[in-house]
Amino acid sequence: MNREMITTLTKAASISSCASTGSETDSDCSHLPDRPVKAQVRRGSNLSKTQHHLTGSFLFDDSPLPPLPNKPSSSTNPINERLVHNHLKNQGPNVSMFYRADGGVVAVKGEGAIIYEPDGSSYLDCANNVAGCGHSHPLIVKAAVDEIQNIMTNGRFLHPLRDAYVMRLLATLPPELDTLYLVNSGSEANDLALRMARQYSTSANPDHVICIDCAYHGHVQSVVDVSPYKWRQCTDGNAESYHKEHVHVVSAPDTYRGPYKTGAEYADEVKLVLEDTGGVGAFIHESILGCGGQIMMPDGYLPAVYDAVRSSGGCVIADEVQTGFGRPGTSFWQFQHYGVTPDIVTMGKPMGNGYPIGAVACRREVAERFAASGIEYFNTYGGNSVACAFGNAVLDAIEQDGLQENARVVGEYLMKRMRSLKELPSGVEFVKRRRTDYTGEDIIPHEKLCRYVVDFLKYERIIVSRDGPDGNVIKIKPPLVFTNGNVDSLVNGMKQALIEAEKTGYF
Ligand SMILES: Cc1ncc(COP(=O)(O)O)c(C=O)c1O
Repeated sequence: MNREMITTLTKAASISSCASTGSETDSDCSHLPDRPVKAQVRRGSNLSKTQHHLTGSFLFDDSPLPPLPNKPSSSTNPINERLVHNHLKNQGPNVSMFYRADGGVVAVKGEGAIIYEPDGSSYLDCANNVAGCGHSHPLIVKAAVDEIQNIMTNGRFLHPLRDAYVMRLLATLPPELDTLYLVNSGSEANDLALRMARQYSTSANPDHVICIDCAYHGHVQSVVDVSPYKWRQCTDGNAESYHKEHVHVVSAPDTYRGPYKTGAEYADEVKLVLEDTGGVGAFIHESILGCGGQIMMPDGYLPAVYDAVRSSGGCVIADEVQTGFGRPGTSFWQFQHYGVTPDIVTMGKPMGNGYPIGAVACRREVAERFAASGIEYFNTYGGNSVACAFGNAVLDAIEQDGLQENARVVGEYLMKRMRSLKELPSGVEFVKRRRTDYTGEDIIPHEKLCRYVVDFLKYERIIVSRDGPDGNVIKIKPPLVFTNGNVDSLVNGMKQALIEAEKTGYF
C-alpha cells in the first residue's frame, strides 16, 4: 500500500473529536454525488480587506467507483427498496438519507453501538453521536417511560425534574455560564443564541455575524445564513443569494490544507473583519469543524478571536451541538480544551440520547440584556418534563458508566490503531500526495478513495460517514460506549478496504 496517499490530520486525542456524520446532521454527503454542477459561492464580497479562502465546494465527483468485491447490496432488499421508493415519492426530494445509492439503512432497533435492521442483521454504528450513551440505554429508557406515564405538557408549568436538570447541566459548565434556556434542537439553540447576541452586543453592527467557512449551525433560516456548508450545496445558480450582507465568512482555520499555518494568522483574518466593519454582534463557531472536515481549532486561535470580538463590543457563541456531553474525553465540553469561556454555548444532539432537546447557556448579563426588551420567552416543548427526564438520565448514564473516561481511553486506542494504518485519527483525510510544507499546493484530496472506503465499510456492516469541502474526510463519531473491540472491527475493515482499493489501482 502506498502510504503516502493516506494522510491524516491529528485533530484530537479521543473519540470525542469524531464529530459529525450524515445520519443525524446536516452533513450527510451521500446525496451530493447526484449533483452535476459546481456552485459558485460569493467570496466574502463584503470583506473588502479580508482575503477569504474557500477550500472546496461540497459538490463531489460522481464518477462510478470500481465494483466492490463480491458484496451484497441493500438496494436489492425488498424492505429497503420499498422504503427508499416511498421516501423519495412522499417526502421532500432533498430530505437527507444515509446511503441513498445503496438502499439506505433501515434502523428499527439499537443497542449500545449496534443498529439492527428488520431481519435482525446488524451494523456497527460509528457515526452516531445522537445516541451518545448508546442506543436504547436501559436507564434512559426507563426514566423516560416513567415520566411519559406521568404527564406531558408545556414548559410553563414548574416541574422538579426541570429544576434538577437545569442545575445539573449548569454545573457541567464554567461558573460564568450560569443561566440556561431549554429548547428542542441544535438549530433552535443557535437561532436563540443569535437573537441574544444581537441584543447583548454594543458593537457598531449588532446584527452582523462572523462565521467560519464550512460551518454548519442548523436548518432554520437564521442559522442557514451562518452555515456556508449549506450554501455550497446550491446548484441552481443562486448560491450568491444565500450569502447575506450581515454575514462575514472567515477561512476555516485548517493548518494542514488551509492558507496559513498558525492560529494567530487565522485570528488576524477575524480581526480584519472587525476593523472593516467596525464590529459585529457575534462570532459563532463549532468547537470542532464537523462538516468542514473534523478540524480542531489551532493553538491560540480562539483566545485571540475571543479577545478581539469582545473588545469591539460583540460576543462569542460556541456551538457544542456535536462536541459536548463528554465526547472530548478530557473535558465535558470541547471549548474547554482551548482554554476559553464563550459568552453563549449552544447544545443539542446527545443531550437527550435521541429525544429532541437542546439548550442555550449564557452569562447572566447576556440573559438580562435579552430580557430587557420586555419580550417574554416562551417555548411550548422546551424544558418539558419528559425532555428533562431524558436529560437527567443522560447525565446519570455518563456518570455511572464513566462514558467521558471511556471516550478518552477508547479514543486514544482508536488513534493508536489508526496510526498503525498510517496515522488515522478521528477524522481521516484521504489525499493523493502529502505536502512537505504549508503552501498547500501539493495536496490533492482523494474523494474517490474516501467514497470507496465508506462504501466498502457499509458492506462490512460498519457505518461511517464522510465530509469536508472535498468529501475526502471519513468521520468517526460513535456512541461513547464504543469499545476497543469495536475499534478493532473498524480499523480492520478500513485496512481491508484500502487493500482492496490498492488492488483496483486506486492508489
Ligand atoms: C454543529 C451543529 N450545530 C447545529 C446543528 C443543528 O442541530 P439540529 O439538527 O438538532 O437542529 C447541527 C446538526 O447537525 C450541528 O452539527
